[in-house]
Amino acid sequence: MACFLSFTVFTLYFTHFSIFFNTINGVFIEEVVQDIAIKRDDKTTHLHFYFHDIVGGKNPSVVRIAGPPDSFIGNFGNTMMADDPLTEGPKPTSKLVGKAQGLYAMAAQNDLALLMVMNFVFLEGKYNGSSISILGRNAVLHDQREMPIVGGNGLFRFARGYALAHTISADPSTGDAIVEYNVYVRA
Ligand SMILES: *[C@@H]1O[C@H](CO)[C@@H](O)[C@H](O)[C@H]1NC(C)=O
Repeated sequence: MACFLSFTVFTLYFTHFSIFFNTINGVFIEEVVQDIAIKRDDKTTHLHFYFHDIVGGKNPSVVRIAGPPDSFIGNFGNTMMADDPLTEGPKPTSKLVGKAQGLYAMAAQNDLALLMVMNFVFLEGKYNGSSISILGRNAVLHDQREMPIVGGNGLFRFARGYALAHTISADPSTGDAIVEYNVYVRA
């Protein structure tokens, strides 16, 4: 739990008002500056977990649902449906904190860049049943990828934010990958 939810930050918005008085003949000028702090309920939550994409073996967590015939997983157009475990630590046996459910598709002809259309549903503590929705580009060979969080439900209703993904291991023979996620979400 300690590394799953690291911190919560309340945001404070400052609105700046200026009132400018100026007489017609320019003799008298007065400037009034007023700063008003407006506290909003929005808070930023940082979530940290590991995503396990299991492509090979007896119990894969993804299935190919569309794409060109007789192609490799990395070929343009290949589309996969995933129900991937999200765990607290990097080991596959680590505590399950959520599931990544949705699609990823090979969206670049000359690169390994995925279109990600996914819901991350959490199963832990007060976040149990709450989810965030990701819609973004995932250039999987880059060290760090950033994807937008476009919405959510439950405690993440009205969510906006971003997810940072960093691959910590990838098996080129099976396609299996473990990816570290740091998600910053405001809801
Ligand atoms: C999460 O919610 C489900 C269904 O509401 C429940 O069965 C499960 O025990 C809960 N898990 C935790 C860790 O609270």
